[in-house]
Amino acid sequence: MNSTQRDILRKVHDEARENYIMILSDECERVMRELFERYAPKRVLEIGTAIGYSSSVMALTSECIVDTVEKDAARVAEAEKLWKSLGIRDRINSYCGNSDDLLPDMVEGKIYDFVFLDGAKSSYKKQLVFLDGYIRQGGIVLCDDVTYLGLVKGNEKPPHKHRTIVNNMREFLNYVQTEERYDCEILDEGNGIAIVRKK
Ligand SMILES: C[S@@+](CC[C@H](N)C(=O)[O-])C[C@H]1O[C@@H](n2cnc3c(N)ncnc32)[C@H](O)[C@@H]1O
Repeated sequence: MNSTQRDILRKVHDEARENYIMILSDECERVMRELFERYAPKRVLEIGTAIGYSSSVMALTSECIVDTVEKDAARVAEAEKLWKSLGIRDRINSYCGNSDDLLPDMVEGKIYDFVFLDGAKSSYKKQLVFLDGYIRQGGIVLCDDVTYLGLVKGNEKPPHKHRTIVNNMREFLNYVQTEERYDCEILDEGNGIAIVRKK
């Protein structure tokens, strides 16, 4: 990453924080960068593009191709501007729509080294179960927001409006920690981060 790219990313990061635009936590970004430096993934899938911040971090940390999906067309337009300004537009395949509908076509015939789950928080388990066959052995699935407002820890009944997300996230965390075919590390940093490795 050159100094111009670093400055652009810093500005986007700071504006996103100031304007409460959802991008990954700083802790998750640090973990992401460390994983990218260690594994240098080539094929990456992201669910939840938002304004293209995390996909830019990934594309600038490893010479990878990123497939990313976002349901909000205005955010996709912002992301495209960002990728162009960073000179990485040709390494990002952007899909606009609901990930539930688009994923099957997006991933058809592909095998991913790295997956970043950062879209619909109640769908992580469903997404991982679907994606398992498209992740290579030794591939990493990084998941942000797994403690979801601190509500996922423990067994307390969640407030009604968060019930589905919290229950589904608990089920996801239980799944990745008990399934034989995954190693999983959960970090109680930021909004909770899960690093899942397919054995
Ligand atoms: C936390 S933000 C993603 C942040 C981004 N990964 C980053 O760090 O720069 C989550 C995004 O997922 C999108 N999203 C939520 N549910 C979705 C769905 N079912 N299909 C596609 N995108 C979805 C939201 O619109 C939102 O922009």
